[in-house]
Amino acid sequence: MLQINELKFNYRQDDGKEIRALRGLSFSLPEGESASLVGESGCGKTTLCNILNLTLGDYSGSVLFDGTKLKDIGNTKNYYSKVQYIFQDPKSAVSPYQKLAYFMNAPLINLKGMHKVKALNLVMEKLPDIGLLPDVLDKRSNEVSLGQLQRLCLLKSLLVSPKLLLCDEITASLDERSIKDCLTIINEYRKKGMSVLFITHDIDLAKSFSKRIIVMFKGTILEDAKDESSLVHPYSQELLNASAALKGIQAQDFAPKSAPSCPITVDSICPYYKRCNDKTADCLNEFPKLFKLSGNHCVRCLKFKNAEI
Ligand SMILES: Nc1ncnc2c1ncn2[C@@H]1O[C@H](COP(=O)(O)OP(=O)(O)OP(=O)(O)O)[C@@H](O)[C@H]1O
Ligand code: SF4
Ligand SMILES: [Mg+2]
Repeated sequence: MLQINELKFNYRQDDGKEIRALRGLSFSLPEGESASLVGESGCGKTTLCNILNLTLGDYSGSVLFDGTKLKDIGNTKNYYSKVQYIFQDPKSAVSPYQKLAYFMNAPLINLKGMHKVKALNLVMEKLPDIGLLPDVLDKRSNEVSLGQLQRLCLLKSLLVSPKLLLCDEITASLDERSIKDCLTIINEYRKKGMSVLFITHDIDLAKSFSKRIIVMFKGTILEDAKDESSLVHPYSQELLNASAALKGIQAQDFAPKSAPSCPITVDSICPYYKRCNDKTADCLNEFPKLFKLSGNHCVRCLKFKNAEI
């Protein structure tokens, strides 16, 4: 359903300097399947979503949805009825001047051709599933909490019944009970065949959402595993260790071993080189390709060069 091949995107700053947000990203998502995409702040997750949401177009490489290149999609209404994006920042998705009833109804009316009374009834019927009451529809976005707004954005996208849902760190402003409610309702739609790209920087949440984990770092994929129990890349290990340490050690005892992330602009060395505890001299001379360890598992690390099938 979704095929991304060697996707590259640079932001151009006012001073002419280019920021390389995506530097050759490749993965695919078959129809009906889901994946968690995990990566730290600034690795390019939202940039990818904006490309998939047709907001950014000036990229190289290819992105195909149902066999059609995104650049060739003429009927955006048809595309948005199949692909829905839930923004990381819910405020940026909603006009502060609109009543939330209008915001919630709009896709059902515009994309599904539903009558506005029927649309409103459907929204009201489903609000309890996200823990909200119908009176919220009379409010505007600045009159509800960020978490309430994020849950509304989720429901609005789900009611379109998309084939693919892009969730961009949607749990960041939610408490634990709301996260559980949101995952429950997303999973109901998954059972009906909807695919989800679940984006997060939380490896535990990523693991609880999907067996397939795609690990992203500095605009590229470092590991893509269909079974998260086998994550082997040194960066994936860093994420797992950090999470285990946070769970097992009191906060004041926890000191991260890794140096802070810093931009790498050289293409000829491993993107994780500066933070890697396993690096060798070879890692300075080569940008590793994604080595295929099995039909379900790829890893971008020279340690696995000889293990490739
Ligand atoms: N409009 C912009 N202009 C210039 N640089 C940008 C712009 N938006 C993002 N960037 C840069 O592109 C890189 C990727 O940003 P992006 O927002 O995609 O990261 P992210 O993985 O979503 O991070 P986060 O987890 O913090 O949301 C970062 O280095 C960021 O500073
Ligand atoms: S290629 Fe080298 S530097 Fe990069 S992750 Fe593997 S061991 Fe570490
Ligand atoms: Mg982001």
